[in-house]
Amino acid sequence: MSSLDEDYATPERLAIYLEIGWSDFLFETPDGAEASGGLPYPNPRRDRVPPSFPLGVAMLARSWAMEISFEARSLCDVGGAVGRTIFEIERQFSGLEHLVLVEPSERFCEWARRLLSSDCKLPEVPLVDRVGSPRWVAPRTRPPPIPRAKERLTIVNETLERY
Ligand SMILES: C[S@@+](CC[C@H](N)C(=O)[O-])C[C@H]1O[C@@H](n2cnc3c(N)ncnc32)[C@H](O)[C@@H]1O
Repeated sequence: MSSLDEDYATPERLAIYLEIGWSDFLFETPDGAEASGGLPYPNPRRDRVPPSFPLGVAMLARSWAMEISFEARSLCDVGGAVGRTIFEIERQFSGLEHLVLVEPSERFCEWARRLLSSDCKLPEVPLVDRVGSPRWVAPRTRPPPIPRAKERLTIVNETLERY
């Protein structure tokens, strides 16, 4: 792990990024279903900071592109963290062939890779539900990977300055 992972992208901050970015996929309970094993996932920020923020960013980018008739073919998300913004932008633009996520935290890149470019079962995720070390729990669901991610998506574990 890099010094950024020790100083900034700590497990506690990963918990915050996963919750803000991906809580709808990771912690959603299907309508009418009981939480498995009775484990209540508190997901305390869902009402205040829903993952619709990255969707809002992506829709704004699309409306700007439409305004100037710009057909985007490539996208670079600098400081892409755990990937929700690039995931939403990919869904808003039909012609994006090259997607690059630049992120200096190895820990964030590892999660972006899992979430965006594979359909593997996710390991436990940290939850922001108490002071101190986060509690790790199994996610309920996961997002679908970006279509043809192996060919289209590059995750660069680097700072912008060194990229
Ligand atoms: C506020 S977050 C951005 C979150 C993300 N864009 C999103 O929409 O969820 C800032 C991110 O920039 C990364 N970062 C910090 N310094 C950077 C640098 N020099 N070059 C690229 N990324 C950097 C951090 O590790 C962090 O993931």
